[in-house]
Amino acid sequence: MNIVLLGAPGAGKGTQASKISQKYGLVHISTGDIFRANIKGGTPIGKIAKSYIDAGKLVPDEVTCEIVKNRLAEDDVKGGYMLDGFPRNLYQAGELDKFANIDICINIDVDKALLLDRICGRRVCVCGESYHISTLNGSTTCAKCGKPLYRREDDNPQTVQARLDTYEEQTAPLIEYYRAQSKLVTVHGGKGSPDEVFAQICARLG
Ligand code: AP5
Repeated sequence: MNIVLLGAPGAGKGTQASKISQKYGLVHISTGDIFRANIKGGTPIGKIAKSYIDAGKLVPDEVTCEIVKNRLAEDDVKGGYMLDGFPRNLYQAGELDKFANIDICINIDVDKALLLDRICGRRVCVCGESYHISTLNGSTTCAKCGKPLYRREDDNPQTVQARLDTYEEQTAPLIEYYRAQSKLVTVHGGKGSPDEVFAQICARLG
């Protein structure tokens, strides 16, 4: 099974991706994580990506599509994968359809008012876990691995607003794109805990 996870910044794509990949044994591919690893490693891709990510804009399509195409050519994805953060505009979706067969697009729908609070309150760990400050009870370390939690550089109010605008202009049209292909499943990501949202997804995936 090959899945596209769609949703605005802060909708819970990363949170659900981790649960889906564990339960269904799918490889989790996050373009945002790939870019952040490249920025940390000081690679040429990281140098290109940083200015776009800091501004809340999309990294150029030619860079992003090439990364995903190469990743999907690797052996470990043969048993199924989940794309988190790709495609992000109609051009990327068209390119993806040339080199991949997507079975289902899960759209995590969350009211805009919640997104800003979720992202500005997010703390993350190098192990990939993500938390919201309201559930941390003052803790500054990861409950899973004990490492210190930190705030993503693009999780500041100015960049978040730009990311939300980019989503509305460029990514939201993908909802119709996948609906037209009869591949769209929408779950309500703003009501209930991450486990309750996950239960909605499981009910649709079987
Ligand atoms: P990316 O890393 O993909 O970020 P994003 O889309 O902005 O999404 P987020 O990671 O912010 O949110 P999420 O939906 O994963 O939410 P999460 O689960 O963490 O992209 C970053 C940048 O990279 C982009 O801006 C762009 O520049 C570039 N980029 C990436 N892909 C690209 C592409 N294809 N083309 C071009 N450029 C690209 O949850 C958020 C918070 O809410 C957490 O604190 C979490 O604990 C909490 N939470 C989650 N679910 C619940 C719930 N049910 N109840 C309460 N709290 C919850």
